[in-house]
Amino acid sequence: MFVLGVETSCDETGVALVRDGRLVAEALASQTDIHAVFGGVVPEIASREHQRMLPPLFADLLAKSGASAGDIDAVAVARGPGLLGSLLVGLSFAKGLCLATGADLIGVDHLHAHLLAPGLEAEMRFPALGLLVSGGHTHIYRIDSPTEFKLLGRTLDDAAGEAFDKVAKLLNLPYPGGRYLDDLSQGVTPDTALFPLAYVHNHNLDFSFSGLKTAVAEYLGKHPHLAFTAMPDTSALLREGARALCPHPEELARVAASFNYAVAETLRLKVERALERERDVVSLVVAGGVAANSHVRAAMTRVAAAHGLAACLPRPALCTDNAAMVARAGYLALAAGYRHGLDLESVPRGRAVPRDWTRVTQ
Ligand code: KG4
Ligand code: ZN
Repeated sequence: MFVLGVETSCDETGVALVRDGRLVAEALASQTDIHAVFGGVVPEIASREHQRMLPPLFADLLAKSGASAGDIDAVAVARGPGLLGSLLVGLSFAKGLCLATGADLIGVDHLHAHLLAPGLEAEMRFPALGLLVSGGHTHIYRIDSPTEFKLLGRTLDDAAGEAFDKVAKLLNLPYPGGRYLDDLSQGVTPDTALFPLAYVHNHNLDFSFSGLKTAVAEYLGKHPHLAFTAMPDTSALLREGARALCPHPEELARVAASFNYAVAETLRLKVERALERERDVVSLVVAGGVAANSHVRAAMTRVAAAHGLAACLPRPALCTDNAAMVARAGYLALAAGYRHGLDLESVPRGRAVPRDWTRVTQ
């Protein structure tokens, strides 16, 4: 069974083809360079870019895979949560293709797709505990199967990735700046007392990262020389490394390491707490853009080992937004018998994605 995945929920336009759940080919266009100077994603620009890029990416995908549009059995589309205008571009494309070819349609929860991404590389085992850490979300789930997710905890304000991006912005680094803070901190011992672990002295599984962000902002306000005087170029940062370009490398590296520590340690404490409650889980899944962070990966790998759980961490390219994870999640839902009609609606950020699919008997 060929399933096409379509991803347009934020600032990456992606299409991917899976055959019986295995990745055949993918094509991805990132808009990060376009939004970098604005310090965040500009929704109208994002929608226009998705509209511009989807047709050539689809043609590229077909050329790469040797498949034709008629070979596609079903289209899986990320229906939310995300930017409404961007989601609508992907949804319209998916529905048009289904109408033209007769393929089935399945709407995919973008967050669930992130958590199922490790399945593209290795077999996933359930029940699992899932930590989703991205630019817009910090959620802990219990996952009983590829179609059964129970939300156990969530951020009350900023997402972990948002905290990374806001701190990077204060330093005058381009958006999204999480990876540069990770890069800056490599090989440096953190000052574990420099920043507070916010919202950990309670009994719940929720997060709050806005206090940490404020603490870093206050620190940087008192040490303004640490910020880059002019925003460095993304390509120069990737080529030379952030430390080579910053005015006070050693001092900034220590601040970056301490901030990374505070985020990773907060995530670790809450995941440990969740594991104390969900004692029957057999694996720990960590997904979303911040799962590419080296400190988060190290902390979660240690947690999984200490609890005797399989650690499911996708490779960094599968952590950030991509269509392969959408195609995979769609394939698993289709295999479980679920379908959507052409009245499928997109779900903007802040609204829960409904389970409004129908089940077909096979
Ligand atoms: O999952 P994703 O691609 O998009 C959303 O659905 O939000 O996540 C993007 C987020 C951004 O906040 C970005 O700064 C962060 O992931 N990110 C990182 C790293 N790589 C990406 N944060 C910290 N360290 C990294 N290495
Ligand atoms: Zn995402």
